[in-house]
Amino acid sequence: MSTSQKTLLTGRILRFGADPFLSPPTEAIHVDEAILLDGELIVDIGSAATLADHHPETARIDFGNKIITPGFVDCHNHYAQTGIIASWGKRLIDWLNTYTFPEEMRFGDAAYAAEISERYLDLLISNGITSAAAFCTIHPESVDALFSAAETRGMRMTAGKVMMDRNAPDGLRDTAQSGYDQSKALIKSWAGHERLTYAVTPRFAPTSTPEQLEAAGALWSEHTDCAMQTHLSEQHEEIAWVKDLFPDDPDYLSVYERYGLCGPGAIMGHSIHLTDREIAALRDTGASVAHCPTSNAFIGSGMCDVTGLRAAGVPVGLATDVGGGSSFSMFATMRSAYEIGQLRGDALHPAQLWWLATAGSAAAMRHDDKIGRFAPGMEADLIILDPDATPVLAQRTQRAEDISDVLFALMILGDDRAIHQTWVNGKEMKGAI
Ligand code: GUN
Ligand code: ZN
Repeated sequence: MSTSQKTLLTGRILRFGADPFLSPPTEAIHVDEAILLDGELIVDIGSAATLADHHPETARIDFGNKIITPGFVDCHNHYAQTGIIASWGKRLIDWLNTYTFPEEMRFGDAAYAAEISERYLDLLISNGITSAAAFCTIHPESVDALFSAAETRGMRMTAGKVMMDRNAPDGLRDTAQSGYDQSKALIKSWAGHERLTYAVTPRFAPTSTPEQLEAAGALWSEHTDCAMQTHLSEQHEEIAWVKDLFPDDPDYLSVYERYGLCGPGAIMGHSIHLTDREIAALRDTGASVAHCPTSNAFIGSGMCDVTGLRAAGVPVGLATDVGGGSSFSMFATMRSAYEIGQLRGDALHPAQLWWLATAGSAAAMRHDDKIGRFAPGMEADLIILDPDATPVLAQRTQRAEDISDVLFALMILGDDRAIHQTWVNGKEMKGAI
């Protein structure tokens, strides 16, 4: 229900006029003085005097030198792994078997799923993440718990039941048929819930039989407004395993293509070790990549070539990949993306990193007409950042030369203390946690 209550927020409003991967990054960023909200929507952005003049009866909140930006968008994570974040010493397959699968087994218990859903959403909000694409577990209860908790908070969430019918322990497998039936029933029960999007979610090629991948592809073709999320080319051992399991396919992506699991709305987590053919196929089919830098460093997966993917025309968003990722903070995630770029000899510009964490991820989720940027008609998911939140940040941002320099200091030195407020759908939420 629209509250139709106009509010004028003043501060340093960050607005992108262009994609900083396609135009000079410093020219892509603009700073405005005021943003006008009407209930859940952004109505206007511009000079404080003009907007106040045009809307004299409007409530006004002045945030001084604080920065107001679109809420962060995390286009790939696993809410059910919240409890096992920061688990030591394994590479991907061992990490899944040792830590992840035993924890995911617990989500058949609706009460536990509800408890972790609340904890996970609290962590998103306190870190300024207003929207995310989440893997649930094989249990339909895990999807119901997350969607109902997100809906109560008014959050724009994408999520889906993991489909997994082999190479997983007893009690954590569905079948090609039950995975299809349960996913379809979840689509039916959550369809029409405005800020929720269902994602068809085959975990990754090694944990699905060809029959299940075929069923997942059929389901997606019957519900093309759904997203599709999976993992692609994360670690060399995983890629070799896919080669063994699918000997007739020339590469990893071709497995997904064969079963209709690549196209607009597909979010491919990681996508690090790609061939030229795979990169061209991602571009040609309109699929997106979720770059998960903290996870790629933490599990030892490798260094994704974000600039190369963007130059090839592949859309890229930024993602925490919690709990393979080591932080709920998008500052930490941007910092890690910067550091991986540096190790590759490619220093991503602060404007590019910020874009990935907002508009880039929103585009990967096909929600870039609603969130991720400030423009009239977009939804009022936004965050207010304090550049003086900690002593080290304050002394650095006070000598910043321009807005890019402030953003860079925030992503290198900032944490949840710099998230002053988080507004979801026109309402402040962080104070409520
Ligand atoms: N590949 C398949 N499942 C997973 C997962 O849960 N996390 C990560 N990082 N990679 C995966
Ligand atoms: Zn993942």
